[in-house]
Amino acid sequence: MDFETLKQECLACRRCALCETRRNVVFGQGVPDAEVLFVGEGPGASEDEQGLPFVGRSGKLLDSYLEAIDLARDKNIFIANIVKCRPPQNRDPLPEESAACIPWLRQQFQLLRPKIVVCLGRVAAQQLIEKGFSVTKDHGKFFDKQGTLFMATLHPAALLRNPNNKPLAFGDFVALREKIHEVCTHTYPENA
Ligand code: URA
Repeated sequence: MDFETLKQECLACRRCALCETRRNVVFGQGVPDAEVLFVGEGPGASEDEQGLPFVGRSGKLLDSYLEAIDLARDKNIFIANIVKCRPPQNRDPLPEESAACIPWLRQQFQLLRPKIVVCLGRVAAQQLIEKGFSVTKDHGKFFDKQGTLFMATLHPAALLRNPNNKPLAFGDFVALREKIHEVCTHTYPENA
């Protein structure tokens, strides 16, 4: 299975009730040889409209953090979400919605085989790292899970609500840059 085939299957998904209210499935965006995978929670209104992840206000903020450490979705990373359709009123995904959707993410993970997964916010961190994960306490730390490094940072939407935390998130991105230099082979051209 290649990425494009997976995407076409995913765009037709009807595995949970979110398919009734979505405008677009947000499959994800990035390069197919990404070594770093970012995972958010789920599409908001702008993402649902455009069919692309993190394109609203929080996406602009995310892009600025990415740019600061020479990452970009059209260059060297992939961005996906725990659920690929917008939960109404931007509520947290329900357990059955996450459970129905995560097999898509798993297939994306298997195709990419990323070296590093960055969880954006609590929902992704609790799904992918540990059930009781505290982003406040354990953001910026790397956890080795079967050879892949997982890290969580604050969700950009949370940073828009609480700009005092921006330096914490920036520190996580600096740590990420260091880790990429350590373990990735072609994310940064100088490591290639
Ligand atoms: N918030 C998310 O978690 N994901 C998006 O794609 C956009 C906003």
